[in-house]
Amino acid sequence: MVEVDRKTFLASLPAGALAVMSHEDKAEALEHYMEDELDKKIAARRGEADGEAGSIITLDELEQEGPRAPRGTGRLFQPREEEFEPMPENPHLLDYFRLRFAPANHVLQSATHALTTGQPERTIFACLMHDVVLNMIKVDHGWWGAQLIEPYVDERIAWGIRYHGPLRFYPDDEFGYEYPEMYNRIFGHDYVPEPYIKQAYEYARNHRYYAESRLITVNDTYAFQDGMDVNIEVFTDIIGRQFKHPKEGLGFDNSPVAHMWRTIANPNRPL
Ligand SMILES: [Fe+2]
Ligand SMILES: [Fe+2]
Repeated sequence: MVEVDRKTFLASLPAGALAVMSHEDKAEALEHYMEDELDKKIAARRGEADGEAGSIITLDELEQEGPRAPRGTGRLFQPREEEFEPMPENPHLLDYFRLRFAPANHVLQSATHALTTGQPERTIFACLMHDVVLNMIKVDHGWWGAQLIEPYVDERIAWGIRYHGPLRFYPDDEFGYEYPEMYNRIFGHDYVPEPYIKQAYEYARNHRYYAESRLITVNDTYAFQDGMDVNIEVFTDIIGRQFKHPKEGLGFDNSPVAHMWRTIANPNRPL
């Protein structure tokens, strides 16, 4: 597990930010902090320059440089050192993983946990995709993440991703999902999710697809391990079966979300 030291985490937030952050903001900040720490640790172990794969710039660093991007800004739209590698023509989801989402350790570990514990292939794929949209935008990422893949997947996969955010805050004994102790330690025992989060949870809890989303949260809690190093190639066949890849290339098929993929492919386009 990636250990999160309360002091270090809080120090990573801009001065004064804590006072104005909602509980949900804090929880999101913690999750993103853990993902960044995991990527840095794995990069360091591989002998790569710290953050090379993702050009991670912490909120702390941003603050020192002056004005900072809103917290909900994805990594692809943060200040960066190097240019984006060009995408191939007719890009495939695998190209997005290699050239835009890498290192993607968190989702790769999450999907690996689902794979090694014998969960349905649909769940494995949902775990693989559940947080990739964070590269573009972090605000309400379950909703954005679902929308990003909706035209290309079984509706249960998109549905599961949409509601995994709210479900994280609610335990479920039946699935062995406990409220993360980490949230208690960092945010205190008095945390109450915002009304729209609670409303989304209650809707999801009573929906026939509930398990699709709950399983994502079950695998999510196992997905911050430093010692595990997974390559996207492992999931090539599963992607082939679970993702209806457009023949024109992802981003060029005129689907209702093609522009979102083009945005990820070309964050530098001025308009
Ligand atoms: Fe998430
Ligand atoms: Fe996650």
